[in-house]
Formats: sequence, C-alpha cells, structure tokens
Amino acid sequence: MVPTVPRPWRRIPEILRWRGPGHFLLLALREALRPVLYWYAWNVYSTDLEKPLTQPYGRGEFDVRIFAGDPDREAARAQLASLGEPLPANCDARMNRGDALAIVYTATEPVACSWMTFTSGMELAFGITWILHPNEGTQYGAFVLPKWRGYGIFSVMNVALNSYAREHGIKRSIGTISVLNSQSLSMARKLGKTKIMTVILIRIRGVGWTFRKAIGAPLQTRFSGKGVDLGYAAARRLGIGDKV
Ligand SMILES: CC(C)(COP(=O)(O)OP(=O)(O)OC[C@H]1O[C@@H](n2cnc3c(N)ncnc32)[C@H](O)[C@@H]1OP(=O)(O)O)[C@@H](O)C(=O)NCCC(=O)NCCS
Repeated sequence: MVPTVPRPWRRIPEILRWRGPGHFLLLALREALRPVLYWYAWNVYSTDLEKPLTQPYGRGEFDVRIFAGDPDREAARAQLASLGEPLPANCDARMNRGDALAIVYTATEPVACSWMTFTSGMELAFGITWILHPNEGTQYGAFVLPKWRGYGIFSVMNVALNSYAREHGIKRSIGTISVLNSQSLSMARKLGKTKIMTVILIRIRGVGWTFRKAIGAPLQTRFSGKGVDLGYAAARRLGIGDKV
C-alpha cells in the first residue's frame, strides 16, 4: 500500500515557496502549540459596492456560475463534489440561509469555489460570530485547485460574488483574510480593498480562556457572540443568526 502524506504536510512546499520561511515558521509554531493554545489574526476588508468594482486580473478564460437558493441546491453539491474536495458539513445550512456559491470554470472543468453569506451569525472562531447589516455580505471559503493557483482566479471569484451581491441590493462586502495568508492578501492588495480592522483571537485550551483584540475599530461593531461579552450594549441585543 502506498503511504499517503497527511494533508497539512502536503502544503509545506507551497507555503514555503509562496509565503516564505517566516510565515512558515509561525504557522508551524501555531500547529505545534495547538494542544495548549491556538490563535488567529485576520485583516478585515471592506468593499463599497456602490462604487465601480476594480476589474479582476485572471490570466486565462474563466467563466463563473453562481448557485443560490433551493433550485440550485443539488447542482451546487454536484459542482462542489467535482472539485474533489470534501463537501462542507453544513452545505445545506448554507444554502438554506441564502448563501451564494461561486464556481469558476475553465472550459467545462470546475477549478475553484467560494461562498458569500448575507446573514449574521456565521462563526469566525471560538464562538465569535459575524454581524452583517441588511445590505452587507461577506465572502468566505475561497478555494482554488492547486494546479490552478497563481492565475488570479481568487480575484475573478471575488468580483463575481460582489457583482452578484450588488445585483441583489447589497451595498458593502466585508471579508477577513489571515495575516499569515500572503497568497490571499495579494488579492486584497491588488483589488485595492480598504482594511477596516485587524482581529486577533487567542484561545488557551483546557481553561477555555479566549483573548480578543481588534485594532482599527471596536470588535463589537462587526462581531458578536453567544455568551461572550464584547462590552457593547448594541451588540448584545443581537441574537445569533439574526439579520440586523
Ligand atoms: C489563497 C487562494 C484562494 C489564492 O487563489 P489564486 O487564484 O491562486 O490567487 P492568485 O492567482 O491571485 O495568486 C495569489 C498569490 O498566490 C501565490 N502564487 C502564485 N502562483 C502560485 C502557485 N502556482 N501556487 C500557489 N500559490 C501561488 C503568489 O503569492 C500570488 O501572489 P502574487 O500574484 O502577488 O505573487 C489559493 O491559493 C487557495 O485556494 N489556497 C488554499 C485555501 C485558502 O487559503 N483560501 C483563502 C481563504 S481567505
């Protein structure tokens, strides 16, 4: 039997090459500390959909199809499966709450996917959840097949989802990108996105203690949490999953 290399290990050469040894060491340290401590740091970006969108910079002929709503449910599942990645466990819940799925094709071959939700309540991490206003959406779950990376497809998906959102009355899209994911940060830089805050979450396992810090804007302007006091009355009025 051919031994299979565990998935995280397969990513080592890519991370070393495209994110560099500094980011690689930080990611390795984070994984090594995982049993006792885990942390995230994200930049949060905003795109004003009332202004003209910056053009995507995909290198090649790419088509995008958006799947949303009950009639698209089975087709969306089939397209995700054809990317050869495990289906998200909450795929149906995503469709039920009205999320849009973008699939990128080259000819007829699906090569990438990404989602956008328009509903408050999606978890960021450690019980912290998104607050989205009625005219806002957030992109998440971007994935490009490894052999298609480096062709600017992330920008194609981002602009396609933002265009779809705009056609449906959404005025602003907000998105998070890990500060250690320089591959993704490249898209935010090239499309000229506005950084509105940086969010840091550190979880000490065992005692269950979580440190939360936002730089640039108060955490509670964008995030909420069940049983988590973020120190702002308006945020506490929101229920998980409420559209505000
Ligand atoms: C992050 C990701 C979505 C970027 O998609 P993409 O379509 O390859 O993006 P781009 O073509 O714009 O390339 C972005 C960066 O990837 C790196 N890159 C270039 N060629 C690459 C290749 N062959 N393989 C991997 N990374 C490559 C470069 O750093 C590039 O930035 P640069 O153009 O400023 O040099 C993709 O790498 C991916 O699916 N990664 C795994 C999942 C993930 O991290 N999702 C992001 C969630 S926010």
